[in-house]
Amino acid sequence: MSTPPAPSERFPTCLVVDFGAQYAQLIARRVREAHVYSEIVPHSITAAEVRERRPAAIVLSGGPRSVHVEGAPRLDPEIYELGIPILGICYGAQLVAQQLGGEVARGGTGEYGRTELTVTDGSGLFADQPVHQTVWMSHFDGITRVPEGFRATATTDGAPVAALESPERRIWAVQHHPEVSHTPFGQQLLRHFLHHLAGIPPTWTMTSIIEQQVEAIRAQVGDARVICALSGGVDSAVAAALVHKAVGPQLTCVFVDTGLLRRGEGEQVVETFRRHQRIELIHVRAADRFFEALAGVTDPEHKRKIVGELFIRIFEEAAGGLEDARFLVQGTLYPDVIESGGGDGAATIKSHHNVGGLPEDMSFELVEPLRALFKDEVRRVGEELGLPEEIVWRQPFPGPGLAVRIIGEVTPEKVATLQHADAIVREELARAGLEREVWQAFAVLPDIRSVGVMGDERTYAHPIIVRAVTSEDAMTADWARLPYDVLASMSSRIINEVPGINRVAYDITSKPPGTIEWE
Ligand code: XMP
Repeated sequence: MSTPPAPSERFPTCLVVDFGAQYAQLIARRVREAHVYSEIVPHSITAAEVRERRPAAIVLSGGPRSVHVEGAPRLDPEIYELGIPILGICYGAQLVAQQLGGEVARGGTGEYGRTELTVTDGSGLFADQPVHQTVWMSHFDGITRVPEGFRATATTDGAPVAALESPERRIWAVQHHPEVSHTPFGQQLLRHFLHHLAGIPPTWTMTSIIEQQVEAIRAQVGDARVICALSGGVDSAVAAALVHKAVGPQLTCVFVDTGLLRRGEGEQVVETFRRHQRIELIHVRAADRFFEALAGVTDPEHKRKIVGELFIRIFEEAAGGLEDARFLVQGTLYPDVIESGGGDGAATIKSHHNVGGLPEDMSFELVEPLRALFKDEVRRVGEELGLPEEIVWRQPFPGPGLAVRIIGEVTPEKVATLQHADAIVREELARAGLEREVWQAFAVLPDIRSVGVMGDERTYAHPIIVRAVTSEDAMTADWARLPYDVLASMSSRIINEVPGINRVAYDITSKPPGTIEWE
């Protein structure tokens, strides 16, 4: 089996050391926005491991509240001696100070949120930046003395040493968070560190990412046949388009149309891939089989299981005709790789509650062209490859589809009703220009009826629940404060246009305690 070359073999790489407080991912993304390839590594990395990876720079991320906490993570001190440019951020800055012989005072009042910073030495990290600027702080302890050979370069009211550096040792550090949008000059600071102080050329661009992946896919696949299950979602779509660019007709896509997608999405997948991308596509119209399997089933977990298992069976049937296929494309993203703890480790099939999750006994080698990419990069690659906006910017959608947005039994009639109402929700949101302001927006069809009056007639019909949330990562979410007039037009259009609906409610529950979906 050939291993595809990793981006780190081709691009100068900035390692982002993770001290376990969720700052690392955002920093890694910001580094990439500065067109430098980044990888997240655990803080337990040793100097020997760093040397072997030959990074062009290292960023130490934020971490726990205090370097004085018992068991607070440390960095292998030899890493400071390697001569690799280092930028310490927040906790990372305190570590630099503490581990190299300076002093970090315990406690005090700390600083949280927007803070005024004064640059006292603009010759290094703060070059070309205003002397007075706003930064985002979140720290409890403070650096009180810089290590020998270092000098302080900025102060705030609460932090006498808000930044420090030793250009001779190639180490720079800031107490604030340059990676957050509340620090207006933060990205400029990161760029200056990467491009000028560390001297890394800005080569991580969409064109070069695509080139590198195309090369890697070709090296892995050779002239073998590759198959890909398309779900209609952005990840599998972009992965397929990349593989197609690399090996053209060696790729066959399988699209299992469950009949549980949103209105128009099935047709769009076929249209995009077959007509525009000219990818060989096996389109399995399987709605009847799904409805049959779901008849009479009301339990949410049971529904999920039925949809997932049937999807796999149908995919296997379709793929069975492609006996020579050796490779299977998976749209695994970098955050999945980090979460499963496997930097370079063996590929594992993404199985978490997704219909795209395929059985482990399938004897395919995996092709994972998005394995090094964050979601926003995947979207940009998709745009660059000419995929339509509707696919590239598609909202997250549950694998079991509308089956988990219909409370109770799933029938073709209920799916048609929900698709209709859901299309109106999307249209009205788009008309208000709010599509990208929300994480997800959709309609839910509950299994209840209520009394209403339309014209002179008494009605007894189903309601539609409109759900719209804002979120960063779906782990937590807040209900979207949609303007009343947008909600009003959704409501009146749904009631006027969708037969069998006589009431519309808006879900104003955040997550937690609610979930985003209703089932
Ligand atoms: P919840 O409802 O748990 O959803 O707040 C969090 C995110 O996950 C999506 N979701 C699913 N995705 N299969 C999937 O592939 C599922 O069974 C499933 N259930 C929820 C949901 O749309 C939201 O983005």
